[in-house]
Amino acid sequence: MKKVLILDGSTRKMGNTSILIQHFTKGAEKNTTQIEHVLAKNLDIKYCNGCLRCNLIKRCSIRGDDWEELSQKINEADVLVFASPIYFHYVTAPLKNIIDRFRSFVHVQITETGLIHTPWKNWNKDFVLLLSMGSSDDSDAQPVIDLFEYMKDVLGDNNRLHVIKGTRLAVIKQVQKTEDELKELYPKLRLNEKLAEDDFKKNQKILKKCYELGEALTAKE
Ligand SMILES: Cc1cc2nc3c(=O)[nH]c(=O)nc-3n(C[C@H](O)[C@H](O)[C@H](O)COP(=O)(O)O)c2cc1C
Repeated sequence: MKKVLILDGSTRKMGNTSILIQHFTKGAEKNTTQIEHVLAKNLDIKYCNGCLRCNLIKRCSIRGDDWEELSQKINEADVLVFASPIYFHYVTAPLKNIIDRFRSFVHVQITETGLIHTPWKNWNKDFVLLLSMGSSDDSDAQPVIDLFEYMKDVLGDNNRLHVIKGTRLAVIKQVQKTEDELKELYPKLRLNEKLAEDDFKKNQKILKKCYELGEALTAKE
């Protein structure tokens, strides 16, 4: 049975990101009971202090926070989900804090032409990005996608990346609002009411994609 770990960068309770996660989880539940959802802001994760001792000791040297337990769960997961609202073209601070501690999963060698990263363990995982953003186009998510394209390669030869982006989602629970609710909302946001019909369909498609990806990634090989 596949193990799923969801690292949730939400700062708002039951916002759009949470709804994307819910749908992904429902799909995954068809195939597995091993799904863990971790809200990053509730964890005690100290900032990476840049000591780089991980390069020698093959683990993070910081002790006395939740990283040791979390890093074990990360190592064991087959499907690693990073879910976040886009904040200033990036993931939220609690999730970024966790990502910085990923430094301890790789050996880094400085060369004359750049850095060579070698993972301590050659992971074979599905990385999933569930991203929610207010902007009407998805370019604000690109820095996060670029990072994960790189991360999945640095952490092993066989990792795969799957990305789902929800755009024009500024208001809480907007992704699951009905067409009528969107029609009522859009003038308040100074958006053309005519967008509501297509946006409703777009949002439904996104939620379906989350469900289907959750199901597909947990299916037996
Ligand atoms: C501090 C802050 C920064 C944001 N920065 C961006 C941004 O750079 N690009 C964007 O498209 N949306 C941005 N947004 C909008 C959120 O990404 C959007 O409302 C998202 O759907 C919120 O997700 P949630 O409902 O899960 O909280 C920002 C929101 C906040 C509060």
